[in-house]
Amino acid sequence: MKRLLLVAAAVGSLLALTALSQKMQSSPDIQKEPFGKAPDGEQVFLYTLKSPSGMTVKITNYGGTVTQILVPDRNKKFGDVVLGFNSLDGYTSKDNTAYFGALIGRYANRIAGGRFTLDGKTYQIPKNDHGVNSLHGGDVGFNKRIWQATPSGTAKNPALDLHYTSPDGEEGFPGTMQVYVRYSLGNDNDLRIDYRATTDKITIVNLTNHSYFNLEGAGSATVLNHKLTLMADKFTPINANLIPTGAIAGVAGTPFDFRKPTVVGAHINEKNQQLEYGKGYDHNFVLNASSGLALAAKVEEPKSGRVMEVLTTQPGIQFYSGNFLDGKNVGIGGPYRYRSALCLETQHFPDSPNHPNFPSTVLKPGQEFRSTTVYRFSTE
Ligand code: BGC
Repeated sequence: MKRLLLVAAAVGSLLALTALSQKMQSSPDIQKEPFGKAPDGEQVFLYTLKSPSGMTVKITNYGGTVTQILVPDRNKKFGDVVLGFNSLDGYTSKDNTAYFGALIGRYANRIAGGRFTLDGKTYQIPKNDHGVNSLHGGDVGFNKRIWQATPSGTAKNPALDLHYTSPDGEEGFPGTMQVYVRYSLGNDNDLRIDYRATTDKITIVNLTNHSYFNLEGAGSATVLNHKLTLMADKFTPINANLIPTGAIAGVAGTPFDFRKPTVVGAHINEKNQQLEYGKGYDHNFVLNASSGLALAAKVEEPKSGRVMEVLTTQPGIQFYSGNFLDGKNVGIGGPYRYRSALCLETQHFPDSPNHPNFPSTVLKPGQEFRSTTVYRFSTE
């Protein structure tokens, strides 16, 4: 009897131990530390996601902002490949007009005159882009909001769930919007971003992440040596205010042809009206893929050997070559200078509400907006 009891106790503790180790294996080890106080006094935090391969991504719930992405170079040396700051001040500074690493909404990119019409009603949102257009959601976009953050995922695939409720009328947009964003690390040195949004009144939505990449390492001089491939036969030309004209033009024979790997600097200073308007590249490319999560862009940096692939379910990607960076923002990597980083913002097209020929950005009650983007890193 005694023996039986002993065996039962041993089996019991073994089971408990197995359950504990399974739990330890599956629960993510996400570090959370104070990051500073937002302008309204609320404490915000920095969360560190680390995958078994060592890839590390830091995210603050202020603006749902990615502050650092550490990935190896071809010699297995880890380096930070996005422009960021190590405290909140860099983000809240009045000199930060660049949206470094932030989640962008309710409407990423520009809306002409900040005006759009839904069901016959015209809405005016702030013209925060030189008083002419609206840019990235108005004066106080999602990038300046504090998101509710919940660590999730597993030890192998850690994740951070973010939630923000954008009230009806916020920045002039109709409808209360519930926005959910999940950042998660995959098995392949990849950062996945899943976006979801719902509304209680007809509205518009366009969500993206505004990370600035330099694969040689944040703070390196320029991205003009980065080799870029874009899976886009077409782009949307802009006017002098960077608003799409509505045309969908072929890239063939223009400086916008990145269908084969091309260094960013190859044509950037050519005499070309579109490049003059953008002060370099600041254009939306129409992605060839018409459904599913598909490769949209590839970036290769020769010195470090780092490669980044961007996959998305979105119809467009804004390629912005950091033309407005001017060295004023000094971050973890030092001063962030002119063209020292590039953005590849997966999105719907700019100013879609005013172009019926563009894929629609209208969201109605009962519908759910969903999109996914993956930034996958490797070396060559
Ligand atoms: C826009 C640029 C803008 C930058 C930072 C990009 O998404 O296309 O024109 O300067 O964001 O504000």
